[in-house]
Amino acid sequence: MLQSMRIVGGCQLKGEIEISGAKNLALPALVASLLTEEKITYKNVPNLTDIKSLLDLLEYIGLTINQIDQHTFELSTKGVKSTEAPYDFVRKMRASILVLGPLAARFKEATVSLPGGCAIGVRGVDLHIRALEMMGAEVSIENGYIKARAQNGLTGCDITFPTTTVTGTENILMAAVLAKGTTRLINAAMEPEVEAFCELLNNMGAKITGAGTSIITIEGVNKLHGTEFEIIPDRIEAGTYAIAAAVTNGEVLLKNCRYEHLTSFFETLSSAGVMCEEKNDGVLVYQKDSEIHPVDIQTAPYPGFPTDLQAQYTVLMALCNGTASITENIFENRFMHISELQRMGANISIHGKTAMVTGVEKLTGAQVMATDLRASVSLVIAGLIADGETIVNRLYHLDRGYENIEEKLNNCGANLERFAV
Ligand code: EPU
Repeated sequence: MLQSMRIVGGCQLKGEIEISGAKNLALPALVASLLTEEKITYKNVPNLTDIKSLLDLLEYIGLTINQIDQHTFELSTKGVKSTEAPYDFVRKMRASILVLGPLAARFKEATVSLPGGCAIGVRGVDLHIRALEMMGAEVSIENGYIKARAQNGLTGCDITFPTTTVTGTENILMAAVLAKGTTRLINAAMEPEVEAFCELLNNMGAKITGAGTSIITIEGVNKLHGTEFEIIPDRIEAGTYAIAAAVTNGEVLLKNCRYEHLTSFFETLSSAGVMCEEKNDGVLVYQKDSEIHPVDIQTAPYPGFPTDLQAQYTVLMALCNGTASITENIFENRFMHISELQRMGANISIHGKTAMVTGVEKLTGAQVMATDLRASVSLVIAGLIADGETIVNRLYHLDRGYENIEEKLNNCGANLERFAV
């Protein structure tokens, strides 16, 4: 059943928001249980539809999943029923591609559907495929599926990624931990989720050094073992609520948020006149100046400004006292929220990969359509400050990445209500 959200604008967010576990760490971390037959216990797993979709895929492959409580799972993989990730699973979530590396490494073969409806098609995973080939896998594309075979196992080598890729780095890390010899990933992703992911693999017995830097070295081992692992807080969820606090001129403590995971983002907010103070138990965000100053940004791989906060940041700049440029360098087609924000009164023009945002005094409520996860949350934020009522349609995008969003925002004084359509 399709759902929509009604937002009555005009609130001032005040209070505390507890940040959930990071979706983009939980996804590869759960997949890593394919690498061992022993049990792995995961804590602080966020309750999201993306996680459910991934668990469905892992169960299909043959994992045993035991849910201990809402956020704790035990996974074990004695053997597999299938080394295939069918289209129906992958089309729901692009991160399903993460099973390619570990299946090829431990079970010597993997068949993974290409992500359907992906605007960038094969190019979106070409770096994963190329790296596996360099490690000795035979890879072909047949009937919309990637087929990888590594009958003699994978062999470590030097792999230079021409573009930094988060899931590409994670996929090849999982291939390399069980490969023969040493693999070096050059121009590897440095995101905190990738660093924490390496920590999980090392806890499982892998030999990885350089995590969190652009060169990661992996010495292959024969076998990995079980462990217990806690997912770090979701920096993108935290950044999203930081902007919600800022635009509503509120004051919110982002509980558990780690300042150092969002340094460049918080510095940008500070320049825009939003205070972001590191506390013992999180980060306190409030408006320092009476107006929001324009600050230009460009998205970049970590430690740069995260693409996953670009849409939300656009809403902040839509209210600034001047004009700011927002350049999207990671994804070609990530301005889909802009036409909806324009319908709410924002003054934004797009010039190639740059959006020029001129602040307006206020936004007005409208019916808007969510097009992807971060675009949809940007519309929710816009709704919080718009005059009147905003209806965000196609809410399922939001549930992929924001746990209990109505509850978290309503507890701070927002007025959000979900309804079936
Ligand atoms: N790319 C290629 N070929 C590849 C891989 C990537 O051309 O084989 C390109 C992509 O097209 C893109 C760029 O490289 O232009 C970077 O993409 P990356 O591979 O880093 O993205 P991803 O791993 O698919 C993860 C997050 C995204 C986040 C990006 C960038 C997960 C599960 N997803 O995606 O998160 O936007 O990194 O930081 O970790 C989200 O949470 O809303 C989300 C989209």
